[in-house]
Amino acid sequence: MTNCYRAPVATLLVPPETVLVAGASGLVGEAAVRALAAQGHTVRALVRRPEEGRRLSADHVIPVVADLSSPGNWNAGFEGVTAVVDAIQVRVPGRLTVARARRASDERQRIVSVLLEHIRRQSAPLRAYVALSGLEDYVPTGDDWFDEATPLAREARGYSLLSVHSRALLVGAEKDWGLPLVMLRMGLIYGSSGWFPAFTERIRQRRGTLVGPGTNYASLVAAADVGSAIRSAVERAPRGKEFLVSDDEPLRQVEWQSILAKSLGAPPVRRKVPVWLAGLAVGRVNADTFASSRRARNQRAKDGLGWVPTFPTVREGFPAMLRTAVPPSPR
Ligand SMILES: NC(=O)c1ccc[n+]([C@@H]2O[C@H](COP(=O)([O-])OP(=O)(O)OC[C@H]3O[C@@H](n4cnc5c(N)ncnc54)[C@H](OP(=O)(O)O)[C@@H]3O)[C@@H](O)[C@H]2O)c1
Repeated sequence: MTNCYRAPVATLLVPPETVLVAGASGLVGEAAVRALAAQGHTVRALVRRPEEGRRLSADHVIPVVADLSSPGNWNAGFEGVTAVVDAIQVRVPGRLTVARARRASDERQRIVSVLLEHIRRQSAPLRAYVALSGLEDYVPTGDDWFDEATPLAREARGYSLLSVHSRALLVGAEKDWGLPLVMLRMGLIYGSSGWFPAFTERIRQRRGTLVGPGTNYASLVAAADVGSAIRSAVERAPRGKEFLVSDDEPLRQVEWQSILAKSLGAPPVRRKVPVWLAGLAVGRVNADTFASSRRARNQRAKDGLGWVPTFPTVREGFPAMLRTAVPPSPR
């Protein structure tokens, strides 16, 4: 199964781009590859492992095999690129502690600096560099709605810790040499890899738990809809803009977990685990992210990108995802 359905290649109404997708084997990267290729763009899918390149191969998709954390010369793979989607995330095995997240953030900064070097060296004019991050970048607003006008948090927390250094590097490149940066900050993404399959399996086995009291809001979004938002950003986002990408209906943790349980034919999740205890099991960063309240408004993405989520809420998205779901990935 893929993170994103394979739509027939559409006739392009916008000029075709040559888009390098870094992190193409990941949840978000693959969704971006599928959405861009389905629209007729040429996609260079940057992967570390050749077998991932073979898995992603399709019309309009050309694999580029490169591990950006070790030295190498990949100029040929970068030449002619007119847009970049940076979907790199350093994999952290085991519990996602704050210390591990900080180390991963350092590592990601090094990877992104190699990416930028190669992009600067190639000769085609770059229209967009689409960078990805999460909603934890913003100051928490509790149960109140927030949007792109909300200030960014001074101190990183939750998943935001994983990209704090690379974001600073990208903002520096935007100022120093005009990197056409477009930032998408996304809600919790559910798809065929990442947190969702294992989470689903726990609920299926009647072992689901609420992290904290369960009354916090979460803003979720389906991987396929993230793919279409990235495609729209590549095609039409003005440089320097940021967009929140999440579905139409943020829900309290207890509500979305109940919808997931119902979609699985399992009883509602009622057991509560204190955040600190969940932190011991899955790492503080995961626990904080699931327990914090994030109620995002997606109007700018709709108006500015013409983005319309296929799954406006998890009520449609979870059952659709589960109809094609695969067992939890070993990652
Ligand atoms: N998942 C979410 O819920 C969520 C929510 C909000 C924002 N985001 C953002 O979305 C972006 C992508 O996240 P994701 O969930 O798709 O992550 P993911 O599934 O873990 O994928 C990470 C990708 O980065 C690649 N990568 C790691 N180190 C690399 C290196 N040295 N050289 C080349 N590629 C490397 C991985 O390759 P391998 O397959 O070879 O390891 C993989 O393709 C991140 O910026 C994240 O902050 C994700």
